[in-house]
Amino acid sequence: VPLESKEHNVTQDVLDLLDTKQPLQTSEDFPSIPQAEIKAALDRLASRSMVEYQAHDSEQVLLTKEAEAIVSDGSHEYKVWKAVKDAGKVPIKELANVVGAESAKVGQGNAFKNKWVKKDGDSLVLVADTVKDNTRDLLKGIQDIKTLSDTKTLNELKKRKLVTVSKVIHYTVQKGPKYAREIPVEVTDLTAEMLASGAWETANFKPYNFNALGAPQDAGSLHPLMKVRQEFRNIFFSQGFVEMPTGHFVDSGFWNFDALFVPQQHPARDVQDTFFISDPPKADKPRADPELEAVMDQMESGSKKLFAPPDAEKKDIKPRDFEAYWKNIQDVHQDGAFGSIGYRYTWSENECLRLVLRTHTTAVSTWVLHRLAEDPQPARYFSIDRVFRNETVDATHLAEFHQIEGVIADFGLTLGGLMRFLEDFFSKMGIEGLRFKPAYNPYTEPSMEIFGYHKGLKRWLEIGNSGMFRPEMLEPMGLPKDMRVYGFGLSLERPTMMKYEVSNIRELLGHKVDLSWIKEQPAVRLEKD
Ligand code: PHE
Repeated sequence: VPLESKEHNVTQDVLDLLDTKQPLQTSEDFPSIPQAEIKAALDRLASRSMVEYQAHDSEQVLLTKEAEAIVSDGSHEYKVWKAVKDAGKVPIKELANVVGAESAKVGQGNAFKNKWVKKDGDSLVLVADTVKDNTRDLLKGIQDIKTLSDTKTLNELKKRKLVTVSKVIHYTVQKGPKYAREIPVEVTDLTAEMLASGAWETANFKPYNFNALGAPQDAGSLHPLMKVRQEFRNIFFSQGFVEMPTGHFVDSGFWNFDALFVPQQHPARDVQDTFFISDPPKADKPRADPELEAVMDQMESGSKKLFAPPDAEKKDIKPRDFEAYWKNIQDVHQDGAFGSIGYRYTWSENECLRLVLRTHTTAVSTWVLHRLAEDPQPARYFSIDRVFRNETVDATHLAEFHQIEGVIADFGLTLGGLMRFLEDFFSKMGIEGLRFKPAYNPYTEPSMEIFGYHKGLKRWLEIGNSGMFRPEMLEPMGLPKDMRVYGFGLSLERPTMMKYEVSNIRELLGHKVDLSWIKEQPAVRLEKD
């Protein structure tokens, strides 16, 4: 493969210069060629033993824009002095107009301190007839040699934002044992003729360059949200959770609200908070859905074995009665039932059958729990999918986002068990030491907001919501009275933003997303905390 002409020139330049000068210092001998390009040339030559080289790290002191201006026009105090010298006298009020606001502000004090000018009434007058602009001279010196050994002065200049310090790498290069002025012609293929003639024994084979980077591949790439979703799925699967079928974004008020004991007057059910669907105008009453059922069977296959005792007998499974469930929900809202006094309002069937873009995946958890009532037994379910809320979009809120949701059903569960479970769960993603704050959800009692301490931001962040589902939600389904169910939810966006250092959610999801940013994210994050 012919070398790129530019690279070839660097390679040739190194060989040429080495003929007369040893060792080379790449920073001095090739000041304008990027070090990466030089390194590529050196690697090419070193792999043929034509050169040997060592890398050196060093720090370079560079001037900022402001400092460059000082080198060309003089320091702020010099400009003040010069203005006073030229005019003989400058009214203080006028100074900013003559030398600029920044120089007037910074320069005046220093010019007083240096005894270059003094106040005379409302004006500045000259004290020193000639001055030496030390700041400018110092910066000029740094500009030339890019170093400053006096660390005290260096720190001062850094603080005044006049210089920046950056790491640079450069190389010392000597001739190697096979040095020559030109790269000899190299054979890249071993042919049948070479074998037959024996020419292979003396041929000069081109060495492999194992340091060459591969060409960037224009391949597809996963969205960071999908990568973090997979990390969460793995945590859930490792703890025996079964994934719930969340493919349908539209659900009825029944599954999204009423079955969760959310009263029909609840503010969450306002158009300000929820997106309603106008066409079709109305949902069917809750009924068996063989398609959804089949997906759930598939997802669950195998997991029952994990929980059911080995000697479990085959029970008579009673199919769900959707009509009874509907009636129970009406009763528990309107008149009270299952030991609850209910909300005591006139429950509306139409409100219940309005179609919504689901506001939480708890709508699906509800469907799955009702299904569990056919054959109540300990179970764990999770989902990670989209939800929709009619919110004003800003840096931390979108009208659609992803919700991570987990549900655990068992006998004899306690609130302490939920707290312990959440501590384990979040520690698997590197968040330790949770705090819980009492909260309110219509469908859980007690309810807890979950807070985690963010070491980078040095504050407690709300990372999730949780609770134990109310009997008003579970008993109308037909679940046994002594079965308890934990639930918790969090957004997928928040942990993803923390892991990928995104501060504006709109850079992560929606029409403003920069696709090249998505592509550039590493396929695997190696530091997982
Ligand atoms: N649905 C709740 C939310 O939207 C999360 C949650 C799920 C809370 C289950 C408690 C129980 O934030």
